[in-house]
Amino acid sequence: MRHIILVTGAGKGIGKAIAVEFARYSERNPSFEPVLVLASRTSGDLETAAAECRKYGAETDCITTDIAEAANAVRLAETVIERYGTVDCLVNNAGVGRFKPFTELTEEDFDYTVATNLKGTFFLTQKLFPVMEQQRKGHIFFVTSIAAEKAFKTSSIYSMTKFAQKGLLEALRLYARECNVRITNVMPGAVYTPMWGEVPEEMQSMMMMPEDIASAVSGAYFLPERTSVEELVIRPVGGDINE
Ligand SMILES: NC(=O)c1ccc[n+]([C@@H]2O[C@H](COP(=O)([O-])OP(=O)(O)OC[C@H]3O[C@@H](n4cnc5c(N)ncnc54)[C@H](OP(=O)(O)O)[C@@H]3O)[C@@H](O)[C@H]2O)c1
Repeated sequence: MRHIILVTGAGKGIGKAIAVEFARYSERNPSFEPVLVLASRTSGDLETAAAECRKYGAETDCITTDIAEAANAVRLAETVIERYGTVDCLVNNAGVGRFKPFTELTEEDFDYTVATNLKGTFFLTQKLFPVMEQQRKGHIFFVTSIAAEKAFKTSSIYSMTKFAQKGLLEALRLYARECNVRITNVMPGAVYTPMWGEVPEEMQSMMMMPEDIASAVSGAYFLPERTSVEELVIRPVGGDINE
């Protein structure tokens, strides 16, 4: 069966791993035929991720866009609906962070982080949810963070947006439960991705890998549709780093 799956931030890190995980699953389960719609700002990254997915036989569609602009987020949703007439799964994964002490954060840091993590995510979801509502079927993942419920000193703006994403998804779930749509809050701890920049080897060994998060996401997606994994809290076995 065809599944239209939109993953934002699919060019690298956790989003790319989620797309590849769906593709790998399709190779092992031929009745699952995903169309992986991959979105981010960098077309080269998307093409690399898509090529990896196609190795497993999955269909891909790359859309280069910056969801920090609400109009782009809306256009992305409209493009998916125009091309496929439906959407089965939305993975709200695109996210950015500026990690600095509280007093050093600027208005530009604030606007930059809020635009992607909140504004883009909100308007994309607002445009796609009604499709799922109407078909009484669908699954929306929000890749938030453990920073959606736990504070870290250098994460004030980032954490503010992640707490807010949790507020958004919990409000949305009140609508979603009425129409059999599943909402999953994915809350990872430290994952070794490009978001961290250069990471010393010793620290890398204390982090999870993007595939670990992707595997938990696909596990939630492939449960029977009567069952909703509402929260996935996923930490390195040794607990949080940078306490
Ligand atoms: N890594 C961690 O430790 C960790 C832990 C908890 C939660 N998370 C969350 O997991 C998600 C993915 O993080 P990651 O670590 O995989 O980060 P990453 O490696 O930096 O990847 C982020 C992806 O999002 C895309 N993106 C960023 N801003 C965008 C925008 N405005 N429009 C479209 N695409 C955009 C990036 O591509 P372009 O730059 O090309 O657009 C990239 O593909 C984020 O929401 C993050 O907050 C990460």
